[in-house]
Amino acid sequence: MTATVSAPTFSSRVVNGILAIKPLANLAKNRARQMMIKRADSIGVPWLAEVAALKARNWSEDLAAVQNPNLTYPNYYVTSFHAYEEGNLGWEPALEVEVAAHAVHARIWQEAGANGDLQLRQSYHACLKPQLKTEPQDIVDLGCSVGMSTFALQAAFPHANLTGVDLSPYFLAVAKYRTDMRAAGNGTRLQGTDATASIPTWVHGAAEATGLPDASYDLVSACLLFHELPQTAAIAVFQEARRLLRPGGSFAFMDMNPQSEIYAKMPPYILTLLKSTEPYLDQYFALDVEQALMEAGFERPTITPNSPRHRTVVARVKD
Ligand SMILES: C[S@@+](CC[C@H](N)C(=O)[O-])C[C@H]1O[C@@H](n2cnc3c(N)ncnc32)[C@H](O)[C@@H]1O
Repeated sequence: MTATVSAPTFSSRVVNGILAIKPLANLAKNRARQMMIKRADSIGVPWLAEVAALKARNWSEDLAAVQNPNLTYPNYYVTSFHAYEEGNLGWEPALEVEVAAHAVHARIWQEAGANGDLQLRQSYHACLKPQLKTEPQDIVDLGCSVGMSTFALQAAFPHANLTGVDLSPYFLAVAKYRTDMRAAGNGTRLQGTDATASIPTWVHGAAEATGLPDASYDLVSACLLFHELPQTAAIAVFQEARRLLRPGGSFAFMDMNPQSEIYAKMPPYILTLLKSTEPYLDQYFALDVEQALMEAGFERPTITPNSPRHRTVVARVKD
């Protein structure tokens, strides 16, 4: 199987050298953060106000309800991501995920603005749905975070039972809060689903070792997870997805498209800055997903661009 990591270019090494100097790295991080907050405001998503409202809550009960205190985190996960020192394991990233997703996805399509995130998820489902043999009844969302991908799946498959799996108990606490709000009839702009759908189950665990039962799901989905994984973990997740699926079931994921012209044309220093916040991006870009999925027990997958910079990969269980 092809699983190589390309060597960094000279300009990438220079940027990496600069980022290794902490005060310069912090300056770059703060600047990027301010730009994101400004962008969110410009599309009608009041970042600071929304995060302040979430921060004002007492989260201890939500956290206790979702956290598995016996979980051992994989080493690759316990590192900084997205310019947060604590990576995915903290309140700041958990409370900023939604506004950040809206800001980041606002520019996928021109004029998308605050609808960019929803449009991205809908474009994934539009690729996925015609490829499914039957309407899925039981769905697992791997790397579900605060539930944006789970709620979007629920809107696309309103009769399905949803299970969201994530390694961050902080993110899951927010997901739980969102479900509680919806059950109480207080849906928010961020959910995209209706109050009559069933309540998702939130599981604090690793996508490669979910602890969920064998052959019990029709669809295993993962949105924007794989660019956060080293290749060994990605391959282990493919195997876990195969284990979870029923005969005739499908595994699907949506993530950055390494073949997108946007990355090919991106100035190397910007790409290096991006990689400094995504520690496994090189490994993700170099992974031969077609080969790896077939080796994990799937038929040859389809790979379809669903946005100018994302792809949808769908693989059916091999009979
Ligand atoms: C970029 S977020 C995407 C979240 C969500 N699926 C969405 O589309 O908005 C990636 C998520 O994957 C989770 N994650 C990363 N590695 C994981 C693993 N091995 N097992 C479970 N979750 C993982 C992170 O905690 C984070 O919530």
